[in-house]
Parts: sequence; C-alpha cells; structure tokens
Amino acid sequence: MWKDLWDTAISELTRAKVDRRHPFRYFSLGTLGHNFPELRTVVLRDFDKQRMMLYLYTDSRTPKVKQIADDPNISCLFYHLKKQLQVRIRCKAQLIDEQSELYQNHLQKIKSSKSIQDYTTSEAPGARLDEHDVIYDLDYVHFTLIECCIVDFDILQLSRDGHKRCMVERLEDGVWRGIDLIP
Ligand SMILES: Cc1cc2nc3c(=O)[nH]c(=O)nc-3n(C[C@H](O)[C@H](O)[C@H](O)COP(=O)(O)O)c2cc1C
Repeated sequence: MWKDLWDTAISELTRAKVDRRHPFRYFSLGTLGHNFPELRTVVLRDFDKQRMMLYLYTDSRTPKVKQIADDPNISCLFYHLKKQLQVRIRCKAQLIDEQSELYQNHLQKIKSSKSIQDYTTSEAPGARLDEHDVIYDLDYVHFTLIECCIVDFDILQLSRDGHKRCMVERLEDGVWRGIDLIP
C-alpha cells in the first residue's frame, strides 16, 4: 500500500517542476532557527527523481542560508488541496558551490528571466527599509542554489474511503524502505 502512496507523491512532485500552477510548486520550508523553528514559502525549482533531490533558489543573504549552513536538517511541507494529499519530506540541505556546473546552469536560467531582480537588492532581504525605495544593483547577484537530499517521506492521503498514511525512508543510494502507518 505504501508503494502506491509514494508513487503518487513522486508523480505530483514531478508534475510540479513543470507546471507553475501545480499546488506542489510552492511549499513550506522549515529550518532550524535560533530557539524557534523557521518556516517560509518557497518555489520548487527542480525535483530529481533518480537522485531524490529537491532544489530551491534563494538570496544568499537570507537567514535561511546561514541556518542551513549551521544545521542542514530541513523539512518541506507540500499540500494538494484537491487531492487531499499531504507530503512531508525531511532532507539534508546543501548550499551548492558557485563554481560548479550545476550552479552555473541555474544561474544562467535566472539571468535570462525577470526573476534575476529578486537576488539583486542592494541591501539584504529583511533589512529595514528606511525612507527610500528598494534599490537594485544588477552588478551583484546574490544567488544561492540549495540542494535538498531527501531523507524520508511522511505521506498522508485523506479519503472518504479511509485515510492512508505511510513513511518511506532512504536506506542507501537507490534503496528505499516503506511502511504503512495508522493515519
Ligand atoms: C509565493 C511565494 C514564493 C516564494 N518563493 C521563494 C523562493 O523560491 N525562495 C526564497 O528565498 N524566498 C521565497 N519567498 C519568500 C520567502 O517566503 C521568505 O519571505 C524569504 O525568503 C525570507 O526568508 P528567511 O528570512 O526565512 O530566509 C516566497 C514567498 C512567497 C509568498
């Protein structure tokens, strides 16, 4: 039974990376902050089904970057309203090296889109806005690519015919073990 639920979750994540209106396109990202867990909405930029990795973009000056550098354990929460499907994913996050080909490929993607602006405010995101408008400096792109290696899934499917829930965890590369849970 867990295998069907897992397949459903993976197929929704795969759709979300190409469909901008898919409900899994946006998810809540949880990091370990100082005293409090920190949550925010982010965009799912890519999902690598073979390696079971999620990718997201952020401004390198945002607090989440330091939080991840200090502690790579993160949580991702996806919810599909119409399908009543909740997917909780725990990952080990990693900030991708700016010299890597992977980083450069993603950077090129944003450089050729309007979203480049999101990484070019002259002051850091979250800094106090004084009596001036937001200033952009396109010469400095503060772009960070975050790779999230999936550790496990907790999948819950609500249904009138009976709710279903499972946990699926990574054992080693390519090997996953699932168990059904009481919802
Ligand atoms: C719909 C939506 C999508 C967002 N997507 C991203 C994103 O992909 N990356 C990102 O860093 N922030 C994104 N944000 C902003 C974050 O939610 C957050 O406000 C910002 O990154 C600062 O987070 P931090 O201070 O916890 O690091 C998005 C916000 C909304 C409302």
